[in-house]
Amino acid sequence: MASLPLFSLETWILLITFICLFVAYGSWTHGVHEKMGIPGPKPRMYLGSINRFNKVYYIDDKECAQMYGRVWGTYELRRPMLAVMEPDMLRSILVKECFNYFTNRRDLRLNGDLYDIVSIAEDDQWRRIRNIFTPNFTSGRIKEMFGIMKHHSRKLIDKLRPKVDNNEVVEVKSFFGPYGMDVMASCSMGVDMDSINNPSHPLLAHASNLFNISIPLFLLQGCFPFIIPLLKLLGVSLIQKSSSAFFRTVVEKVRAERNESSPQRDILQHLVNSKTVDDSREEKQKEGLNEHEIISQISILLMAGYETTASALMFLAYNMARNPEIMKRLQKEIDSTFPNKVGDKFLPHFND
Ligand code: HEM
Repeated sequence: MASLPLFSLETWILLITFICLFVAYGSWTHGVHEKMGIPGPKPRMYLGSINRFNKVYYIDDKECAQMYGRVWGTYELRRPMLAVMEPDMLRSILVKECFNYFTNRRDLRLNGDLYDIVSIAEDDQWRRIRNIFTPNFTSGRIKEMFGIMKHHSRKLIDKLRPKVDNNEVVEVKSFFGPYGMDVMASCSMGVDMDSINNPSHPLLAHASNLFNISIPLFLLQGCFPFIIPLLKLLGVSLIQKSSSAFFRTVVEKVRAERNESSPQRDILQHLVNSKTVDDSREEKQKEGLNEHEIISQISILLMAGYETTASALMFLAYNMARNPEIMKRLQKEIDSTFPNKVGDKFLPHFND
């Protein structure tokens, strides 16, 4: 006892109370799944289940599915989350009941200027934006975009061919990333960025940078959510501000240069057409998007399409390279589904 600091009794009481509160707060939400009888890995104080996430997420998910079944509970820091691998349940969440009950996505709340993108907007705002967005992704509209995708696929193949001919090792992401970006920029705002021929294009750097979120800030807001209003007030954002500002400037520039007399059939034009500024009826005003929302949605399309598409294509390429038999089967299926439509040019070395 003699070695303990000589604090007064009041200081000791305060200190012990603080430690108890700190410990209790860090585990406060961690009983939610248990109370509902949902199995899952045991959470740790403050960290929840994130300490067990494998860098390759799906490996961790597979392990959990084996241990707990197709639905299990996890905690992202203090926030309870449900992991679902049950197809029927997923259909209800993502399709059947999407507009009724599952309108809101995971919101880290420090979103900077991207506060009104479709994946952050909630409830009626989400429904409004999503209702305007959805017609851009009907099979008819996607067929229209197919020509654009083919154009950029050709450029991708032209770029890859010399590397393949020289038997060079390539880092596929540096091809698939710009390819995805060029397709997205053309489909969403009718502009050929040609980043495939310009690997140092700032669009690519900013797209990669955007979701490079600061881990200490992520931990801080997740462990002590009560300080979020203060952080917001200080203008702190998890999304890189310079990168979101860059995308906004690009989209604004394209929007400003658009010739009103020759409207295009891209997503930007579709969103612009939804603006109901000429309609004085209040309910009509509420159906359209405002200028800030339009720019935000196009920005998020460019960003959302980049990393996701590049990773999916990389994963596909990796698996094809590791499984040449499956690659041949895929080629056969493509050839029989699209006979005479895909020339050799598009499939280099598939017959090797
Ligand atoms: C293989 C590539 C992709 C993957 C794996 C992927 C994955 C996802 C996931 C998991 C969500 C959340 C769904 C939810 O919570 O309901 C999402 C939402 C979204 N994705 Fe993708 N995505 C991909 C490609 C794209 C592309 C190319 C675009 C742009 C055209 C895009 C735009 C969006 C948007 C706008 C949302 C928000 C939708 C909403 O909240 O209503 N994604 N994506």
